[in-house]
Amino acid sequence: MCGIVAYIGPKEAYPILVKGLKRLEYRGYDSAGIALLNGDLSILKKEGKVSILEQFAADKDKHGTIGIGHTRWATHGVPCDRNAHPHLSNSGNLAIIHNGIIENYGALKTELEGRGYTFTSDTDTEVLLNLIEDIQKAENTSIEEAVRIALNEVVGAYAIVVIDKREPNKLVAARKGSPLVIGVGKDEFYVASDASPIIEYTKHVVYLNDEEFAVLNRNGVLDIKTLGNIQKSPYIQKLEMDLEKIEKGGYEHFMLKEIYEQPQVVLDCMRGRMNAEQGWIKLGGVSEFAGRINNAKRIIITACGTSWHSGLIAEYLIEELARIPVEVEYASEFRYRNPIVNEKDVLLAISQSGETADTLSAIQIAKDRQALIYGICNVIGSSIARASHAGSYTHAGPEIGVASTKAFTAQVTILTLMALQLAQSQGTISQSRLRQVLYEMETIPDKIRGALKTNDVIKEIAAKYKDAKNFLYLGRGLNFPIALEGALKLKEISYIHAEGYPAAEMKHGPIALIDENMPVVFIATNMSAHEKIVSNIQEVKARKGKIIAIVNEGDTIIKALADEVIEIPETDELLSPLVSIVPLQLLSYHIALMRGCNVDQPRNLAKSVTVE
Ligand code: M6R
Repeated sequence: MCGIVAYIGPKEAYPILVKGLKRLEYRGYDSAGIALLNGDLSILKKEGKVSILEQFAADKDKHGTIGIGHTRWATHGVPCDRNAHPHLSNSGNLAIIHNGIIENYGALKTELEGRGYTFTSDTDTEVLLNLIEDIQKAENTSIEEAVRIALNEVVGAYAIVVIDKREPNKLVAARKGSPLVIGVGKDEFYVASDASPIIEYTKHVVYLNDEEFAVLNRNGVLDIKTLGNIQKSPYIQKLEMDLEKIEKGGYEHFMLKEIYEQPQVVLDCMRGRMNAEQGWIKLGGVSEFAGRINNAKRIIITACGTSWHSGLIAEYLIEELARIPVEVEYASEFRYRNPIVNEKDVLLAISQSGETADTLSAIQIAKDRQALIYGICNVIGSSIARASHAGSYTHAGPEIGVASTKAFTAQVTILTLMALQLAQSQGTISQSRLRQVLYEMETIPDKIRGALKTNDVIKEIAAKYKDAKNFLYLGRGLNFPIALEGALKLKEISYIHAEGYPAAEMKHGPIALIDENMPVVFIATNMSAHEKIVSNIQEVKARKGKIIAIVNEGDTIIKALADEVIEIPETDELLSPLVSIVPLQLLSYHIALMRGCNVDQPRNLAKSVTVE
């Protein structure tokens, strides 16, 4: 989704803004722009990548020690120069950048047009800015007061930064439903939609809360108020993020780097949370709310996309191990279907970014109905983390590739620990079995390393199948969510149509699609369903489908049947998703690369989906 970066202080703003926009590229966008204040407001904006904006700006005046920059992911109006941010107000005095959607922009626009305002873009953002201008004129007030009054009139979600050329010593920033972080330096401030553009300048940050606005003054004073005009004292936190974690570190793409980081990620995720020898697991949030979670009537898991797939894995694990009923719901459906939820329920919200708008709304509904909210997020201090009563961070480090890889593995690691901890307190697992699984968990980083060694084989397979028009992914049990995730990865980054199905469902419809042009990826690592999956493979083979099988090392039965085999280290079936997802991530990566796709920033997609 859109990205925001802004600066006020003694330095030249342009280089900071351009670098910041590049750091935000991973979020997904279709145009970029910058406004600089140097006596006058100069606006530089272009459809396309930040590099195009840089070329366009090469021979322009770029001086100014206050400025705002934006990457736009189109919602209202097509991607083009005209709709790119920043926007200027009718008088030319104000400039704005905005993430989110102003839902009542149509009515506001009609009102403003009635008062003589004209619009050069199709955006809701330009309407908001002229509303601010109109209020400023009518009330003869400061820019921050006009912003405050305007935001009390709008419906929707936003993170904004506004500059007034007549007040060159301040920036005004505000948020509701869309994240905004303020970096605090020495007599300077940075603003961004996440910490990545800020981290190299300062580790001291203030997260703006919903319905708060901030005035960032050149003299180093940070003034924060609520939209109801209540003064707040800024809470400065120290960022734990390293710069090298948001850079490629020698890999060709962030996605590849993040796939290869998974052994370490799983290790980091388990660190201090379990001990195989002593037979214990301790997720702080689960321990703190043990009573409510153990006595829950059911656990409702809500999430979107890849995080929803890890939720499906959790359903299998929690029901199997802890015998607590679990339901898994797309957050986008849950929020609009008047669900039956009460104080006996636990809502488990899973989100890498912690900012997904649908998941946040689902949380709000369950919270209003007194459920306990347990958040599993990767981004520390994110909106979902803050909206939850309890939770666990996945500690996967910043995930920059739009296609989620290491964050997924980290989610599955946490969810596995959670299922085991609940099973232990429910008394549904013996201590010896628990220790056996925990010992096996300790071997997972190495087993993922083993799976990563299949990279060369996968590259060859990718070369053979890269031109396929469709793919089917089939798995049973815990490998069914892995089939869904494998298919999602492929379609996200290679634009090949791919479907995931439970292997046994194939005969109820998808089998009609199978012919010699259909590659079918079988995730066949679970030995308890081995015979059955072999039958499914036979069914595909009989119809001349091409079989790509992910199997445990040494599986000669499937090897004899499949066209292509990817052998990965065997593990306890409960833990197999952590290993079997790896070859599927690599397969998508290589196919996408061979098709010339932008692996890290696939078209139309955004890293954190902060609008509905
Ligand atoms: O940040 P979240 O985990 O809440 O995001 C949910 C989905 O938008 C996300 O998983 C999406 O499906 C990814 N692009 C998957 O690779």
